[in-house]
Amino acid sequence: MKSVATLAAGSLIASIAHAQVVQFDIAKKTTQPNRQRLSKREATTYEETITNEKQRGGYFATVSVGSPAQKLTLQLDTGSSDIWVPSSSSSVCTKSAPSGGSRGGDGAESGEDEGCTLGSFDSKKSSSMTVVGKNIFSISYVDGSHSKGDYFTDDFEIGGAKLTNVTMGLGVDTDIPYGLVGVGYALNEAIVADTQRVSSPYKNLPVQMMEEGLISTNAYSLWLNDLDASTGQILFGGVDTEKYEGEMSVVNVQMDSQTGAFTSFIVSMTSLTANSPSGSDSLTTRQYPIPVVLDSGTTLSYLPTELAVQVWREVGAVWDTYTQMAYVPCGMENSKGTFEFGFAGPNGPKISVDMTELVLDIAEGSDVPKFQSGQYKGQNICQFGIQNFTSEPFLLGDTFLRSAYVVYDLENNQIGMAKTDFNSTKSNIVAFPSKGATIPSGTVVQNQVAATGDAGGSVAQPTYAASKGFQSAAGIVPAFEWAQVAVIGATTVFMLAGSGLFFL
Ligand SMILES: *[C@@H]1O[C@H](CO)[C@@H](O)[C@H](O)[C@H]1NC(C)=O
Ligand SMILES: *[C@@H]1O[C@H](CO)[C@@H](O)[C@H](O)[C@H]1NC(C)=O
Ligand SMILES: *[C@@H]1O[C@H](CO)[C@@H](O)[C@H](O)[C@H]1NC(C)=O
Repeated sequence: MKSVATLAAGSLIASIAHAQVVQFDIAKKTTQPNRQRLSKREATTYEETITNEKQRGGYFATVSVGSPAQKLTLQLDTGSSDIWVPSSSSSVCTKSAPSGGSRGGDGAESGEDEGCTLGSFDSKKSSSMTVVGKNIFSISYVDGSHSKGDYFTDDFEIGGAKLTNVTMGLGVDTDIPYGLVGVGYALNEAIVADTQRVSSPYKNLPVQMMEEGLISTNAYSLWLNDLDASTGQILFGGVDTEKYEGEMSVVNVQMDSQTGAFTSFIVSMTSLTANSPSGSDSLTTRQYPIPVVLDSGTTLSYLPTELAVQVWREVGAVWDTYTQMAYVPCGMENSKGTFEFGFAGPNGPKISVDMTELVLDIAEGSDVPKFQSGQYKGQNICQFGIQNFTSEPFLLGDTFLRSAYVVYDLENNQIGMAKTDFNSTKSNIVAFPSKGATIPSGTVVQNQVAATGDAGGSVAQPTYAASKGFQSAAGIVPAFEWAQVAVIGATTVFMLAGSGLFFL
């Protein structure tokens, strides 16, 4: 069963972000995309400001494509490996706002969310555009969304780094109103899955930046910053030591178990601890050490069900059978509880994620849905940042990644992780000195525990000593009775409309 087809499965599931986008793309964008250009800091690093588009559930970078340059704002994705841009002629970009308020909320007032408001690419207007693969670009996602068209090469610019002849997909037939910049391993490109040939990958963006000497090695750092901050940063070819606190620990990327190749940023998750003013619980599963993908293109994080249900019980989350999602009262954002994720064994990095980073608004103002029954009746409903999956790949998306400063070293297949410094305004950029150089200022973890996905053995039920602290600190009463969850889950029926609003 060793097949490159599984490469596709990985990238497809990793692209669950798009399901989030479809659900929550409801509010009018209140801010302009950040068009600030960051200048070249050193000969060997390039820095780009990325915008936290909460409504779209992701981080976006403004790039230029073609000559003369056309500006587009694309989602930055460590979980995929292709750049693709929506074609100006695609129906998703040419459609105008529907008359009447079918979208509900702010979106209906102006229809600003219709069309490709983040930009589209008019290939006819670029003199340097060359089609290199007619009708062979094709990506489809688990939620049914897709992008298809031609592969082409053209000029491309990001963070002041100018490249010519960059291979991209042109989304001619697509239902996604913006493109992506996938910066993952070349082996995870859609063309590899589509052709079933590991020989088919082309040089994607970070590889090409290295080969053209813009950066010395295929590596970059990602600082997503606080959930409430509007911007973060991607730094190609270097590390910014002022964007994290404490030690930078370096762990190995794990190979994909199906293909035996490095295809995505899989690391070995080996512990999860719930901490609150009332106590601390070690949360366990037979599936440790868990292979988890660090994926900036996924809004939420997805753990094995056995672990996720313990997390939900700690915070008193409610599982909804209709939307297949866990929810919490929005007041939980004030909870003093934290979850500490551990990697690569006892010597590895530990990243604490505060509850403030795990409670996500579904809508704004009067559109916020409320619990209609159960012990949270009348309280605003928020989406919880940790959800569950049945099988690999498990994903640590933005709800986890914001709390970490992460260095992706695709040359050495290593990941550097440190505690983020939220809202840091300082900068100290250290470039990778040469191709294959190890992560500057990083310390490689000794005796790392590799991800096996199922070490067997016994697991201990936590006593949920932390649970009371999670919930009382948030001023949420009464303390949650876990036995009621099944009943509440079954009787609370949400209807998730296309607009992303709940109706009861
Ligand atoms: C552009 O890239 C393509 C595909 O990687 C390659 O075949 C072609 O030779 C390149 N052209 C130039 C002018 O570098
Ligand atoms: C970071 O800045 C945002 C926006 O100003 C603010 O809401 C948030 O509380 C700040 N976070 C921290 C940890 O200071
Ligand atoms: C997630 O957990 C719920 C509640 O335990 C369960 O019913 C559901 O099947 C799980 N979903 C997945 C995808 O594993």
